Amino acid sequence: MRLSLSPSPRPTARGIALALFQDASPAKHPWFPALPAGAKQTVLAFAKSKEFIGKSGEVHVIPFGAPVRRVVLLGLGVRKDWNRRKATLASRQVVVVAKQHKITDIALRLADLQLPNVDVASLAQLVAENAQLADYSFTRYRKIPKGGWPKLASYVLHVRLADRTAAAKGVRVGTVIGAANNAARDLANTPGSDMTPALLANAAVAEGKKSGFFVTVMKKDAIEREGMGGLLGVSQGSPHSPTFTIMEYTAPGHATDKPIVYVGKGVTFDSGGLNVKPDTSMYEMHMDMSGAAAVIAAMCAIALLKLPLRVIGLIPAAENMSAGDAYRPGDQLRTLSGKTIEVMHTDAEGRVILADALTYAERYKPSAVIDVATLTGAAMVALGQRAAAILSPNEAFSQQLHTLAEESGDLAWPLPLWEEYEADIQGTFGDVANSSKVRYGGAITGAAFLWQFAKKFSRWAHIDIAPTMTTIDGQFLAKGSAGAGVRLLIAYARKYAAA
Ligand code: BES
Ligand code: MN
Ligand code: ZN
Repeated sequence: MRLSLSPSPRPTARGIALALFQDASPAKHPWFPALPAGAKQTVLAFAKSKEFIGKSGEVHVIPFGAPVRRVVLLGLGVRKDWNRRKATLASRQVVVVAKQHKITDIALRLADLQLPNVDVASLAQLVAENAQLADYSFTRYRKIPKGGWPKLASYVLHVRLADRTAAAKGVRVGTVIGAANNAARDLANTPGSDMTPALLANAAVAEGKKSGFFVTVMKKDAIEREGMGGLLGVSQGSPHSPTFTIMEYTAPGHATDKPIVYVGKGVTFDSGGLNVKPDTSMYEMHMDMSGAAAVIAAMCAIALLKLPLRVIGLIPAAENMSAGDAYRPGDQLRTLSGKTIEVMHTDAEGRVILADALTYAERYKPSAVIDVATLTGAAMVALGQRAAAILSPNEAFSQQLHTLAEESGDLAWPLPLWEEYEADIQGTFGDVANSSKVRYGGAITGAAFLWQFAKKFSRWAHIDIAPTMTTIDGQFLAKGSAGAGVRLLIAYARKYAAA
């Protein structure tokens, strides 16, 4: 899909999207006068008969002319309820409807989606990002159907001449971010057989070459030399050795900056280990490296946008399998920090590999550290599947990320992380227990565990993206990975660079 801008006051595309608030007359839409008489009549008839009233998500496709063109009436709902989340869905729906109706090129007035207090560049960025997210599908493992996959060749955003420069900037940024988000979905959607720790590291290397950041991969022997007993412990039961990948992006003149460090959980498949997962819970666990995918993808966008800062990405990668030599409940793992982890449950593996990565991050003296991980089912219980969890002992940092989550569309919501919770993850014979004795608040105790390895950082947050790992119905997104975390990490880097 090619997304372009047009300053023309009337559309020439084959598909014409008229986005309308509830009970707004289509006749008042600026493009209405440009429609041929027949199309005008039909549109008015739909409105008059109340068959289309413009409810949120309501769609009518009206063919006209020869060769056939189409008007797409797209309902935006009640104007006073209009918000970013609705604009996000509308931007996606245009793409999905166009593909459903084999409309190969479609036009939309950017101003139709205008949000209060959102500038032209941000709105154009939102549309560009979401158009790409909606256009994505994961077809690598399918036979190409006769006639190929449905394709939307062109999406034309019409803007006022005066807004053109701002809109162009928004589209450029949004295109990079949307593509990065989709790249993360590709990585996460790839099955465990084709995304082992070594292959995940290779993917980071390849992305670094393409986008312009340095990548170093530590293999098992180097990981042993470092003393990352957590990462080694988790990977022990798998024939696939662990990797530890270091990505570095430094903008010219920023070599001596304190970097931001992003850490992504890279469990390429999570069987649960000896505490094996029950029946259907294992199905999507090839996506347990979604945090890693988010960090790799964010590094790409940051490098492509040439943000003026320094960012480090760290990916501890392992496969969590059960085998004769798998790590066991009761094992004591000596981590890079020197602290031991008492293994209570082999399915709480993400925090074990992240512990080593967080300690590794200390050597960069970072200004901020954010880890992204599909860490707990408990986060899904707490929030449903519409928001990731933000956990940080630094409340201001947590609030900042919350705001950026809303602005970026990569939704996330804070949960508390108080010292009191630290009592729940004390070890009996070891220093820290990898699962809590307390049955409740698993997302928080998971974070409390990670916190034990993040004490040196004044700004640290853990984003639990288990809730938003996959797309859900109604989002106008292909089934599978959502690429959660990508937009939030990029948003933070952009905010940081601008400050
Ligand atoms: N990868 C899972 C969490 C998960 C579950 C992610 C569902 C996405 C969807 C994680 O490693 C895990 O198994 N967590 C356990 C922790 C428990 C044993 C303390 C969980 O949530 O049950
Ligand atoms: Mn697990
Ligand atoms: Zn896991």
